[in-house]
Amino acid sequence: LDAGIQLRIPVIIAGFGNVSQALVRLLNERFTYLRDKHGIEISVVGAVEGGKDEFFSAFLESGLDLDLLIETKRKSGRISFYPQCGGNSSTLELIKMSGARLLFEATPTRLNGGEPGLSHIRTALDLGMHVVTSNKGPIVFAAHELAKLASIKGVKLFYSAAVAGALPIMPTGEYSLNGCRINAIEGILNGTTNYILTEMAAKKLGFEDALAEAQKLGIAERDPRYDIEGYDTAFKLIIAANALMNADLKISDVEVSGIQKVTYATIDSAKERGSALKLVGRVEKREDKINAKVGVEEFRITHPFYSVNGKWKGVIFSTDLLGEVVVLGGASSPTFTAGAMLRDFLNISQFSDNKS
Ligand SMILES: NC(=O)c1ccc[n+]([C@@H]2O[C@H](COP(=O)([O-])OP(=O)(O)OC[C@H]3O[C@@H](n4cnc5c(N)ncnc54)[C@H](OP(=O)(O)O)[C@@H]3O)[C@@H](O)[C@H]2O)c1
Repeated sequence: LDAGIQLRIPVIIAGFGNVSQALVRLLNERFTYLRDKHGIEISVVGAVEGGKDEFFSAFLESGLDLDLLIETKRKSGRISFYPQCGGNSSTLELIKMSGARLLFEATPTRLNGGEPGLSHIRTALDLGMHVVTSNKGPIVFAAHELAKLASIKGVKLFYSAAVAGALPIMPTGEYSLNGCRINAIEGILNGTTNYILTEMAAKKLGFEDALAEAQKLGIAERDPRYDIEGYDTAFKLIIAANALMNADLKISDVEVSGIQKVTYATIDSAKERGSALKLVGRVEKREDKINAKVGVEEFRITHPFYSVNGKWKGVIFSTDLLGEVVVLGGASSPTFTAGAMLRDFLNISQFSDNKS
């Protein structure tokens, strides 16, 4: 790239929790790299958080100072204390008035309809903005509707961060397997449950003890049902299958079971057979019929999933033209999720016709 050519891309951020703060730190740290390697200057013109009773926002058309934005959040608790630029614009108001080219959406995942993220994404796409999100909710509920809207408006909606972020399931399916028909996807998609099963095996623990340990380390939520009953895996599987296998799955189409009934004795007898137990999401297409299920399965030592331990994850694509493709990846963290959002951003700027 000619060092003189730089594309300034104004962006806004919805939600300012762990992921968005990691993203802002990343954009700040990688500013020179993005400018020199990609010829892009990402200018964060606005951000907004809150939403329960009140919104807290910051907006500056020429671009917020990212050090100051992080410092304001750290010191004052709310970004609306950003000097001279703070306010109480709602997320939808910010999207409509910002003039941004892209929305980073990182508000909480709500699986009872996908709001508030769904309205944020719909509004942004409708205004001709690209969207990158880490929020599963809107994608589980409205992936096809949103993809259609994005296509009509000539913009992109990317959500690799919402599907086991650090593990590149979506980019692999969308780019590396281009031209293939994906016949099946199977994956260890949830780090918490994989960690618990690994600890049970390694330390000869019962399920409750391993769960308590994972909670103590902050790996499992205080209310861990969403993970351990298999629903997190199911939602990730639905997103991947709907996007990559042209499916239209809803949660009611997936047979879901979790790890809560696994005992050390079951793990031990699998071990004696040279196998390991893993919680796996599996979706298969036979002719036009799609079957999806989540449950504990046994894997022999020769299988790639056998040694996917701890918070690691993995996915196997079965394709018609490239055979089986295996991708293994690391644990989730706000920084890795932010990294996945940056990857999506760069893929949008590289793949879209108008380069923005
Ligand atoms: N953390 C991870 O490692 C990870 C990994 C993969 C995916 N994700 C997904 O990424 C998203 C963000 O995760 P997170 O860990 O950053 O969550 P978080 O720390 O709870 O942050 C959520 C942020 O969204 C704000 N918010 C809530 N409703 C809003 C609205 N209507 N408009 C604008 N802001 C609103 C919250 O404000 P308040 O401060 O007032 O609550 C908070 O700032 C979630 O959907 C999550 O499932 C996270």
